[in-house]
Amino acid sequence: MSKKILITGGAGFIGSHVVRLFVNKYPDYEIYNLDKLTYAGNLENLTDLESSSNYHFVKGDIVDASFINQLFQEHSFDGVIHLAAESHVDRSIENPMEFIQTNVIGTVNLLNAAKETWKGEFDKHLFYHVSTDEVYGSLDEGGFFYETTSYDPQSPYSASKASSDHFVRAYRNTYKLKTVISNCSNNYGQNQFPEKLIPLCINNIKHNKPLPIYGKGENIRDWLYVVDHARAIDVIYHQGKDGETYNIGGFNEWTNIDLVHLLCKVMDKKLGKEEGTSEKLITYVTDRAGHDLRYAIDATKIKDELGWEPSLQFEEGLEKTVDWYLENEEWLENITSGNYQNYYQQQYENR
Ligand code: NAD
Ligand code: DAU
Repeated sequence: MSKKILITGGAGFIGSHVVRLFVNKYPDYEIYNLDKLTYAGNLENLTDLESSSNYHFVKGDIVDASFINQLFQEHSFDGVIHLAAESHVDRSIENPMEFIQTNVIGTVNLLNAAKETWKGEFDKHLFYHVSTDEVYGSLDEGGFFYETTSYDPQSPYSASKASSDHFVRAYRNTYKLKTVISNCSNNYGQNQFPEKLIPLCINNIKHNKPLPIYGKGENIRDWLYVVDHARAIDVIYHQGKDGETYNIGGFNEWTNIDLVHLLCKVMDKKLGKEEGTSEKLITYVTDRAGHDLRYAIDATKIKDELGWEPSLQFEEGLEKTVDWYLENEEWLENITSGNYQNYYQQQYENR
């Protein structure tokens, strides 16, 4: 059945994989990618879709309420998959206001537009909010985050995402908007902005630069291949139950230092260097303020109820990721030089 879906943040890391999956898998759907193209938004992530007739790009800011209202009135979207956000914890520590603007106010603007334009027909429309495991706070050595775990966000980023999750639930409870939320663990894979741990280390190893490890490197993250996250979003969008929350994770915990050691080994092999060469770049630096110790998702519910499971083992996914970054030097150069930000003008504004 044909559908018109608005995907926000589709030029970012995860959003671009979600847009690609939907455009290619559902040729009958019209996919609208709404993105402000902040430093994290890169249309070069989606060049392969430019000639797809069911793909449409809209440049815009979710913080601009009148623009969002107009967009919803112009298009009768059947559903929204909302990924647009400020996503980097370190940036939230430097500048929390931007996170409140985009992650909280931007989300509420979308909810308001959906509430107004879908009035009287909520059962035919879905608002899917993509969130993070960081809303649950920090674990010590034992236990997992479940869908029922109480929220306990610890950084300005996670506090802003927790707030947006609360608004989504409040709009369902108060106005009866149909909603689903998913909370996912750390993603890795191609097209991730090289401010995040894995692509930052790949880029630094390539350029023989230090690999900054915060604190003692003992913090633990649960890593999931980005395409598996996109697959989970597809399953939840189509089969998730109204009002439900789904945790998404890889059952794949690594301390940062063990992960970086593995990455160094893979990079040495791929670059034809003697094993142990890249490890010498490891440099311990001042810890992140309020650094969460451990995240670990229990993803049993999505497996049991919707049949989703990760498709890749971490070692395989990491090799694939390294291969992609090494084969796509131009993408990385454009990001690090800032050239990718000219792409929109070249591609769209001079037409
Ligand atoms: P990203 O930073 O790579 O991409 C964010 C995208 O949102 C960019 O394209 C950016 O231009 C766009 N954007 C930012 N502000 C906007 C605004 N005001 N209006 C319109 N567009 C705007 O982020 P990501 O890592 O792909 O994360 C996507 C979503 O998934 C976020 O909601 C994040 O909280 C969530 N998430 C991320 C991870 C992860 O490991 N990266 C894990 C779980 C959940
Ligand atoms: O858990 C999901 C979250 O994962 C998402 O919601 C966020 O959007 C995403 O950015 C990610 O957050 P993290 O803070 O866990 O990811 P990051 O890649 O920034 O850091 C991973 C771990 O590595 C973390 O413990 C901090 C550490 N780190 C990070 C950087 C950038 C370092 O030791 N050195 C670094 O230079």
